[in-house]
Amino acid sequence: MNIRRMTLDDLAQVVAIDKTSFSLPWPERSFRFEIMDNPASRAWVAEEDGKVVGAIVAWLLVDEAHIATIATHPDFRRQGIASKLLVHTLQSMMNEGALTSVLEVRESNSAAQEMYRKFGFEESGRRPRYYRDNNEDAILMTLYKLKVES
Ligand SMILES: CC(C)(COP(=O)(O)OP(=O)(O)OC[C@H]1O[C@@H](n2cnc3c(N)ncnc32)[C@H](O)[C@@H]1OP(=O)(O)O)[C@@H](O)C(=O)NCCC(=O)NCCS
Repeated sequence: MNIRRMTLDDLAQVVAIDKTSFSLPWPERSFRFEIMDNPASRAWVAEEDGKVVGAIVAWLLVDEAHIATIATHPDFRRQGIASKLLVHTLQSMMNEGALTSVLEVRESNSAAQEMYRKFGFEESGRRPRYYRDNNEDAILMTLYKLKVES
């Protein structure tokens, strides 16, 4: 499995994964904006045998790596793909000066929360009624110390 920058050529596959993964998927124009126009954005895909099997978009906001979206194709889950995308993203953003990482996750999304906890993210807040499809709360999770001790 190979991790590389997301390009416009990946859009169809990335949008398809997003649609099957979220009740509020991003429209194609959002991914296009992230790739083309958002200077804070870092977007990668995981590729296997020429097929996109996972994707991540993160924003570098000063010293904070904000995980905006991450998803693995349903046929390829529980194979470590999202973990590898996350490690790649956090390491790369650390090299660019990120010290912490933050994300929002649905209260009901225990699979994702479990993964984030494995990386050391902890619950740091709550955004009430954050998701407009069902008014579900978002749990804010923070990884406070990205920096490797020297
Ligand atoms: C959450 C998601 C990205 C995980 O992707 P993945 O490639 O399957 O993740 P990994 O294989 O790297 O799993 C890492 C760990 O996360 C946890 N995990 C992942 N899926 C899980 C599940 N269905 N139930 C419980 N724990 C789960 C496990 O601890 C897992 O480690 P293990 O397989 O050694 O037990 C994937 O389920 C997905 O795309 N979900 C829909 C989109 C989504 O919810 N994104 C996150 C938004 S905040």
